[in-house]
Amino acid sequence: MRHGHVGKPVSRIDGPQKVAGKATFAAEFPMEGLAYAAIAYSTIAKGRLVAVETEAAEAAPGVVLVMTHRNAPRLKPPPVFMSSQKAAAGDDLPVLQDDRIHWNGQPVAVVLAETQEQADHAKSLLRFTYEAEPSVTDFAEAEARGTAQSQFQGEPLHDAIGDAEAALAGARFRVDADYASPRHNHNPIELHAVTLAWQGDVLRIHDAQQVLAHAAWTLSQVFDMPEEKVVVTSPFVGGGFGSKTLWRHQILAAAAAKLAARPVRLVLSREGVYRVVGGRSQTEQRVALGADAEGRLEAIIHTGVTVKTAHNAMPEPFILPTRSAYQAKTLLLDVQEVELDMLSNTFMRAPGEAVGTFALESAMDELAHEIGMDPIELRIRNEPEKDPISGLPFSSRNIVEAWRAGAERFGWSRRNPTPAAVRDGEWLVGMGCATATYPYYRMPGGAARLTLTQDGRVAVDLAVHEMGMGTSTVHTQVLADRLGVPMENVAFNYGDSRLPGVIMAGGSQQTAAIGASLIAVCDKLVGELLALAGNDSPIAGLDADAVVAREGGLAKRDEPQRHETYASILQRAQRQSVVVEATPARPLETMHWSMHSHGAMFCEARVNAVTGEIRIARFLGSFDCGRILNPKTAASQFRGGIIMGLGLALMEETQFDERNGRVMNPNLSDYHVPVHLDVPAIDVMWTDIPDPHTPMGARGIGEIGITGTGAAVANAVFNATGRRVRDLPITLDKLL
Ligand code: MOS
Repeated sequence: MRHGHVGKPVSRIDGPQKVAGKATFAAEFPMEGLAYAAIAYSTIAKGRLVAVETEAAEAAPGVVLVMTHRNAPRLKPPPVFMSSQKAAAGDDLPVLQDDRIHWNGQPVAVVLAETQEQADHAKSLLRFTYEAEPSVTDFAEAEARGTAQSQFQGEPLHDAIGDAEAALAGARFRVDADYASPRHNHNPIELHAVTLAWQGDVLRIHDAQQVLAHAAWTLSQVFDMPEEKVVVTSPFVGGGFGSKTLWRHQILAAAAAKLAARPVRLVLSREGVYRVVGGRSQTEQRVALGADAEGRLEAIIHTGVTVKTAHNAMPEPFILPTRSAYQAKTLLLDVQEVELDMLSNTFMRAPGEAVGTFALESAMDELAHEIGMDPIELRIRNEPEKDPISGLPFSSRNIVEAWRAGAERFGWSRRNPTPAAVRDGEWLVGMGCATATYPYYRMPGGAARLTLTQDGRVAVDLAVHEMGMGTSTVHTQVLADRLGVPMENVAFNYGDSRLPGVIMAGGSQQTAAIGASLIAVCDKLVGELLALAGNDSPIAGLDADAVVAREGGLAKRDEPQRHETYASILQRAQRQSVVVEATPARPLETMHWSMHSHGAMFCEARVNAVTGEIRIARFLGSFDCGRILNPKTAASQFRGGIIMGLGLALMEETQFDERNGRVMNPNLSDYHVPVHLDVPAIDVMWTDIPDPHTPMGARGIGEIGITGTGAAVANAVFNATGRRVRDLPITLDKLL
């Protein structure tokens, strides 16, 4: 493999299709006789829909259908994420099934028309009368009523070692501070969209999906039909970040298509994405750290409160990064939750870690300042030897190397540790750093089918996703190396729920899940080929362990001249092709090892002393994520995560009218994300040390970039100005 494709900066194989406009996205699939949909959203948070006047809309030009709770088909509740392996819904509330309103922005009607403009116009003619009931839409008010223990993936978000409060009280150095993060909304460039039709008894859907098999199964439950009768394809996705799962728009589009007996295209408006697609929930976090005279941690306390809804399984698990971050004598971690009458929360790039590391790593910087110690030295001094909670050994943890290499490249030694000491005209200049971390996962459900043909070509089929990460490119590299064939001989088929596997593009685990599946199916292929080769082959009588794939065939590992091509094996066996299907070994590695990707983040910030304007001058991410399979696509993942982290640090904030739970900035002119001028040159580097306990030696890289970035920015702003901002986003008003 050393001389192969893996590890090379191969350009994306779907690149030419995309730049030529030939990659078909969900909203672009042609279907005969399409009707276009528009959704009307409730304007109260809780209560009853008393009346809907539909006559004017129904009489408007081009209108095909007005669907409300009165005429919508009866549906089963959609199974909520994590309630079973393939459940993919954000919540299980009945929508358009009765007159109840559960959140401000809930769909209350769907209009179908011959064109999108006609649907949008007719929607504007609908009149709704509501009877509002008291609702809880204010965090502080909900908190005053009491909180409950939060759970994540069926486990309480609570860990305790020793008496952390007592250890804190007795520590030589102490910091104890409250941090806050607002709600965030998802803003992938591609709007959530679906083009679908009922074809006989099959529901055929072109969707923008990162959980294909899950979406197909969940829809089959909603419409009470066999799973195989729901076919979802999603070959290209314009960004997901946790949001491209199953929400109301697919369900309502399918229901409306059924009622109207027409194929339907439903593209959520940007406002629609804010109304019906969940985001990251708000947090209030306390981090208290106690250290001895040498800076060794005696206590880590990371507790706080987050928000969820009654019908949803996704509180923001912000303590997750703290579980394995540092060695400390005592530890107290806890997440409490309050329930609000609002749209359900969901996964958003590094749920937990993105905002959890903001609090933890800001606090580490505060402690370093308190002690008068370099913040990198403080972190290295508290590096754990094994997982502090589970006691498991780390599979591979080279965070200290990442820190040292990053500090060298960034020029950390030039940092002035005294805040507000460096000035360039009216700009205050500072450097900050923080640890990035995200766990390694590999979910069960992997599977792949492989077809090898006499011409030496290989096609592999799995129901996986390409959201722009480079999945199809990287796994074409992996397969080409594993089977000793050129990349152009490999067809990587994905994005179709009829293909094998229940694999999500989530949790930064898709690469591991695919890799394990490819390894399993290639092993099976080798066994099959050895059986087919027979006694006249140069590789006759060899065990699978004794052969390797190279130069379009199999060879004896230590005797490369004993080689036979796939073409020759298949010809002699009189076979046009061999088809094998396999599932990988169960993901037991995380039971034996504590497995995490790591990074060291460095930021240089400039803050205008007169206006408070913040500009990020430089950023470096130094990562330890196992083996990097493709440096080109990986760098792009790291940079994308960091850019999203800059948004989290400086701009992103969903604004609510707390009286009625309405999102007030559901658009990209009021909800700010970084644009080109906000983003400096971002440097990335990595250790490239393979993890011996993962398939291919790689750990996840999709989410880690957003972690640590918020704190690195906050810490740089502190170093520049002496002002410590503990509530996100760090806007200029907080610095004046
Ligand atoms: Mo990610 S939040 O698991 O798409």
